[in-house]
Amino acid sequence: MNWTKEQRYKRLDEAGEKEIQELSIRVNECPWRQKFHIQPVTGLLNDPNGFSFYEGEYHLFYQWFPLGPIHGLKYWYHTKSKDLVHWENAGIAIEPHDYFDSHGAYSGSAIEHNGNLYLMYTGNTRDENWVRNPYQCIAIMNPSGKITKMNKPVISKIPTGYTEHFRDPKVWKSGESFYAIIGAQRSDETGCVLLYSSPNMIDWKFEGEIMTDMRHFGYMWECPDYFELNNKGILIFSPQGIPPKEDEFQNIYQSGYIIGDNLDVAERNFVHGSFTELDRGFDFYAPQTMLDPNGRRILSGWMGLPEIDYPTDQYGWAHCLTLPREVTIRDNKLVQTPVCELKKLRGEEITVETIITNGSQEIDGFHGETYELIAEFTEAEADEFGMELRVGEQEKTIIKYENATKKIVLDRTFSGQPFAEKFGTIRKCHLEAEKIKFHVFVDVSSVEIFINDGEEVFTSRIFPKKESTGIRFFAKDGQVHLNAVKWAVS
Ligand code: FRU
Repeated sequence: MNWTKEQRYKRLDEAGEKEIQELSIRVNECPWRQKFHIQPVTGLLNDPNGFSFYEGEYHLFYQWFPLGPIHGLKYWYHTKSKDLVHWENAGIAIEPHDYFDSHGAYSGSAIEHNGNLYLMYTGNTRDENWVRNPYQCIAIMNPSGKITKMNKPVISKIPTGYTEHFRDPKVWKSGESFYAIIGAQRSDETGCVLLYSSPNMIDWKFEGEIMTDMRHFGYMWECPDYFELNNKGILIFSPQGIPPKEDEFQNIYQSGYIIGDNLDVAERNFVHGSFTELDRGFDFYAPQTMLDPNGRRILSGWMGLPEIDYPTDQYGWAHCLTLPREVTIRDNKLVQTPVCELKKLRGEEITVETIITNGSQEIDGFHGETYELIAEFTEAEADEFGMELRVGEQEKTIIKYENATKKIVLDRTFSGQPFAEKFGTIRKCHLEAEKIKFHVFVDVSSVEIFINDGEEVFTSRIFPKKESTGIRFFAKDGQVHLNAVKWAVS
């Protein structure tokens, strides 16, 4: 279907009840609705927004176009949870109906201030000639959950030297001051991040650009995030326009981090190492982090990418968020592990310890459509070894380790309904290790694979048939010792 401008920018309150009802019926008929991931009731979800803890609950908002699987008029949708596992849909948080957000309440973040939760976001607008003009705006949520927008933007001007691609404020507090970084594009069409400061979340001062060694690294940096961990500064962002390089940067757009000294907000000079992708899979973008009351840095990302058609589109919805992951630093590298609360999802358990020799093996009780699985491979003599998930007559999703190349390989060539094939169907990354551990979460239409306690992560959508529930372990040219445990998740 080709969407007209009128359809893309149609407000939810302009849609008839019948239209919405028909859309929800179509969505609920979809064989690929997820069981334990945040997904939209109808329409399209993209970036996580406003990830925070406030009044005893986690709040995770997301970009939402309600009326179909396209990037139309974006709302903020609100979900909340007491445990990071069970999420409750709390309804629309921000409606894009004002002069300063007429063409979308775009991405942003949240912070507690004066007993309220302040949501800072980008109001996207277009004039009659379709020229974009972004505003940075505030909406305030009170303790009873009521959200009220401020009646005018807090940043109305794009600073000189930058284009209209100026969005996605991420706010934090240091001492008595608030800081926000905003994704931007310089007039020469290169991407960067701008720093603002404020004493009160309302009056914002432009401090300048954050200086990095990445003066030429793509044409736009979306969804920046900055935080400190173990006395290091970490800048996460999603750059657009990075060409593929060997195994890296294979997706349409990237998201990753640079790690360095704590940011000196006065100098704005960020001394850092090289850019590393956060996730090695096919579907991961625009992640956002929050600091939880236990001092953990927790990240969630959009399990999808812009400008790609997904198989659920025909059912009137698209995308979900990743599971929340705890971020830590190991050897100057970010490591991501599923938050421990996810153990609550564990149902029936089955374990096995065996040797896999020259071939593939099914193991009694190891199958399923949705589950958590940990497989540890040791004493490997085989050239390669790994497992196949969601196996059916003609389907399988392969995750394996190649000894000769020392690479982890995710192969979704035969995962099910094909899509995005022009970006390839295999993803790889280098990893030197004696033991290989795959910690996998399989939902109806996704896999999240944490390698060696979060050293690398592969996140991907897959669209297999419901009956493709097989699991096979394999070794090629040699043997490997396997220890595996699986929990059903229902
Ligand atoms: C990233 C992004 C953001 C923007 C939002 C709009 O996916 O393009 O830069 O704020 O999505 O939905």
